[in-house]
Amino acid sequence: MRVVAVWTIKGGVGKTAAAVNLAALAAAEGWRTLLWDLDPQGAASFYFRVKPKVKGGGRKLLRRSAELRRWIRGTDFDNLDLLPADFSYRRFDLDLDGRRGPAKRLALKLAPLADEYDAVILDCPPSVSLASESVLRAADALLVPVIPTTLSLRSLDQVRSFAAKVGKRDLLVLPFLSMVDRRKTMHREALEWCHADESFLRATIPAASVVEKMGLHRAPLLTYAPVSEAAQAFAGLWEELAVRIALSA
Ligand SMILES: Nc1ncnc2c1ncn2[C@@H]1O[C@H](COP(=O)(O)OP(=O)(O)OP(=O)(O)O)[C@@H](O)[C@H]1O
Ligand SMILES: [Mg+2]
Repeated sequence: MRVVAVWTIKGGVGKTAAAVNLAALAAAEGWRTLLWDLDPQGAASFYFRVKPKVKGGGRKLLRRSAELRRWIRGTDFDNLDLLPADFSYRRFDLDLDGRRGPAKRLALKLAPLADEYDAVILDCPPSVSLASESVLRAADALLVPVIPTTLSLRSLDQVRSFAAKVGKRDLLVLPFLSMVDRRKTMHREALEWCHADESFLRATIPAASVVEKMGLHRAPLLTYAPVSEAAQAFAGLWEELAVRIALSA
């Protein structure tokens, strides 16, 4: 089982879009996949038409004796399950803080699922917190969407140093460019700059209205626009990610 966290400090940069589309692509390729929607906003749960509800809330789910299986739901897609969001996740930090070894807790909760899933994708909220620390301890790879702006690149530096400090040893930090508009000079420059940086994945996700329409379709791109440029870009991203996580296994 490989755990991939989609996380960065910045909000609204395409974390959920990536998590949802990559989960669908992994599942379509036959990977037994679990998507865990860790964001109280519940966007990933919404896209997969699953009610954002965890009975007993994050507090109960984080108990050592509680099995995650209880809260896992199926989706309309073969090989793809979802652990829904819950509004109580807004207090995830407090709930973790009350536990022993809070930073290790998510890894501990996921461990019993190791034989059931090939990939676990964590869609994370944009905060730096005890919860993100726990995410980075559980993850084998950290996928970081970066939009082509100075501030977003600055957040990548912060993400890198936080990941180096709290993440598990050998954590793969994999940034990629998100929401790229090639008509903009600044975006084209960022593209060149990032592609000179070998740590960036080669795939870049274009800014495209077809991605925004995920909210209307409540489905990943694979379902309603499989040959769109954006869908192809996510497919390329998945291909690279699959190779990287398989190699590091
Ligand atoms: N490649 C894209 N092109 C155009 N719009 C996009 C793209 N990716 C995401 N969006 C839109 O931008 C908004 C934010 O995207 P998304 O929810 O994926 O970001 P996020 O990083 O998960 O946000 P949050 O920090 O709130 O969790 C959404 O309205 C989404 O439809
Ligand atoms: Mg999100």
